[in-house]
Amino acid sequence: MQPARRIAYEVLRAVREDDAYANLVLPALLAEARLDSADAALATELAYGTLRLRGYYDRVLSLVIDRDFSKLDPEVLDALRLGAHQLLSMRVAVHAAVGESVALVGSAGKGSAKGFANGVLRTLTRSSPEEWHARALAGLTGDDRLAAEYAHPPWVVAAFREALAADGRGERDGRGGQLESLLAADTEAPYVSLAALPGLATVGEVGEPGEVSPVGVRSAGGDPAANPMVARGRARVQDEGSQLAALALSRCRPIVAGERWLDLCAGPGGKAALLAAEAAPGGATLLANELIPTRARLVRNALAVFDPPPEVVEGDGTRFAIDAPGAFDRILLDAPCTGLGALRRRPEARWRKQPSDVDGLTRLQGALLEAAIAALKPGGILAYVTCSPHLAETRRVVDAALAAHPELTAVDTPAVLAEIATRDLQLGAGPAAQLWPHAHGTDAMFIQLLAKVES
Ligand SMILES: C[S@@+](CC[C@H](N)C(=O)[O-])C[C@H]1O[C@@H](n2cnc3c(N)ncnc32)[C@H](O)[C@@H]1O
Repeated sequence: MQPARRIAYEVLRAVREDDAYANLVLPALLAEARLDSADAALATELAYGTLRLRGYYDRVLSLVIDRDFSKLDPEVLDALRLGAHQLLSMRVAVHAAVGESVALVGSAGKGSAKGFANGVLRTLTRSSPEEWHARALAGLTGDDRLAAEYAHPPWVVAAFREALAADGRGERDGRGGQLESLLAADTEAPYVSLAALPGLATVGEVGEPGEVSPVGVRSAGGDPAANPMVARGRARVQDEGSQLAALALSRCRPIVAGERWLDLCAGPGGKAALLAAEAAPGGATLLANELIPTRARLVRNALAVFDPPPEVVEGDGTRFAIDAPGAFDRILLDAPCTGLGALRRRPEARWRKQPSDVDGLTRLQGALLEAAIAALKPGGILAYVTCSPHLAETRRVVDAALAAHPELTAVDTPAVLAEIATRDLQLGAGPAAQLWPHAHGTDAMFIQLLAKVES
């Protein structure tokens, strides 16, 4: 059996059975199998494409399969989804797409279902992808159609619609909004971006400049770890929106020697590394905190390149309200969130998140923001950041904090980013900054700088 298909099938199994993250499982499997770059690219497209568009393929398959999907063996369904992706979205020879998918069913010990799988996939080959597309969407309108066409759960489409409207990107004056562009951007594989850590590497030493961040680099393709600067810890894989979020805090005003900075939720350490690089030349020191010990270890690894490395502590960030009131000049709160702004990078995430996740997260975000406000020095500045544009996690959390804290003011964050970004971002009116995959080529990062007035 072709190794790329076997590996993609194993990724689907791990995501389904072990709740694994495809972007962690796949690189490990590729390294173990020592595939050449063409086969590695094929395995990646097979696994990520199938996971991302799963909802659409299920819709098409349900036109052919006359039984409840919950009654199908999951191993058979995975093979059918993988076959559907090849037949409907990739230019793969029909005999290979069908034959190898059926072989996967056999390899999973489901030999008795091979005839069924063969029949379903053969039926798919009898119409063109365009004909299946038309049939799958027939009778659907509005957001239901967008959800089916771009393979997003309807609640995510509704959340995006609301967030775009709040950012001045919704439907207005009879002109269509940007929802469809956003959903389309989410279904495309993004290029890998790197951050050249200031003082340790220049953009030119790492590669070609990125799109919007002054420290951003467009990875040349292939394994980013093969880049010598990445291998030496002087550059890191990091979305350019995440880079801008860290730089908004470090560059919003000049650094005064002796400033104390806190990264309240630092794991795995991408923004902490950039903040540490920014802090050192100005004479500021960074403390990084993370709740989960395994993630705190990743933060230590990320910061090991600095001499001396910033301190990393483990624990619940809310304790800083009591343990360190008024102690920090700058705080990054990159809050735990649904991650709806990074769906293009995490292929299975859209199907795993549930609307019921939002309430618990907004409570945690509110509690962490309260702690950050308490730990901020009068005259200090904090960045509230999420990699989600969901209004409940972004503007509403910030609005509640502003209403409860007259000592806080919302800083015009688009104006700050205008001084930092390498091109005009054409952000909304502010004071919050919302980045978008379709408009900026970044994850949909939300960034609000908040200043505490001097007492
Ligand atoms: C969005 S991630 C931070 C990403 C990080 N800033 C980076 O750029 O690499 C949020 C982190 O918050 C951590 N976290 C969750 N609850 C927390 C809490 N109560 N206190 C501190 N950290 C927490 C999670 O484990 C996760 O590592």
